[in-house]
Amino acid sequence: IMKILSGIQPSGQLHIGNYFGMMQTMIDQMESSDLHVFIVDYHALTSVRDPKVLAKGTLEAAADFLALGLDPDKCTFWVQSDVPAVCELMWLLSVLTPMGLVERCHSYKDKVAKGIQASHGLFSYPVLMAADILLYQADIVPVGKDQKQHLEFARDLAQKFNNEYGETFTIPEPGISKHTATIPGLDGQKMSKSYGNTIPIFSEGKPLKKRVMAIETDAKGIEEPKDPDSCNLYQLLKLFATPDRLAEIRGLYVNGGAAYGYLKLELLDLLNDKFGAARQKKAEYLADPAELRRILAKGAEKARAKAAVTIDLVRERVGIKY
Ligand code: TYM
Repeated sequence: IMKILSGIQPSGQLHIGNYFGMMQTMIDQMESSDLHVFIVDYHALTSVRDPKVLAKGTLEAAADFLALGLDPDKCTFWVQSDVPAVCELMWLLSVLTPMGLVERCHSYKDKVAKGIQASHGLFSYPVLMAADILLYQADIVPVGKDQKQHLEFARDLAQKFNNEYGETFTIPEPGISKHTATIPGLDGQKMSKSYGNTIPIFSEGKPLKKRVMAIETDAKGIEEPKDPDSCNLYQLLKLFATPDRLAEIRGLYVNGGAAYGYLKLELLDLLNDKFGAARQKKAEYLADPAELRRILAKGAEKARAKAAVTIDLVRERVGIKY
């Protein structure tokens, strides 16, 4: 049975890029794998400096997963900082990490370019992420394509550690699905909070409608033939429409008759169908934070027990267990 693990930052409203890139894969594999899902609040500290916002975001992210169908009894579901051993492992990996390897990671430069403060924590972000993955001996890590380089980094570190100190870590495989590797945002770039081009999973009513109507398309008239594969709206419809309906829509694009305004309203309906029930459940979870904390505390206990096994072995391997 495969150990599948992935994490998400609690830094803002989760969007459908997160959903298709990671959350859905995780929830789908709940029955068939040894699933590990966690909320990376230590990582989020690289960009979230308001303590209240971080604490609230963490509980919200937990409510998101539970509302979307994650069953905490069928997986290990926890908040990263509830298992501080990950910071110890990060240090033990840091001393083995060649500077060149971290310097090559493009996420640091990208984030600084977007205005995130250039801190040492932001720079060493990939080492903490490698510690997340290796601490739990994950086999497969489902992520979007934007995390591919971080996964390669974790594999390199695992290999390096194993070579120097003997077989210790499982070498993790990235789980990147071809169809959902990069979900486009309203403007056709990668959907990302920092581009302000997201469709949040849990928005509804007018704000959601406004977002959907803002999806960028070309200026072709209804009857003109259009290319579905280069159309951002079509890429988004593809995620939600049934195969039969999608084939019809494709026909409208190719042969003429596709009305963007109408198709946007159709997408809006599909979004409401898909996430309507989860919105209700999320509200229920958020209304009972004590219950959320209880669920997370139980998950943390499970995660700590697993982490303890690895950290004990690693301490012995490197010689700090004297
Ligand atoms: P984060 O919080 O930015 O995103 C969570 C997951 O959503 C995926 N994703 C997307 N997938 C497809 N299309 C998009 N437009 C899109 N936007 C986001 C991300 O690839 C990710 O899988 N560093 C990670 C969190 C992390 C982690 C880990 C992941 C920390 N430790 C250990 C796996 C294992 C991050 O910032 O993801």
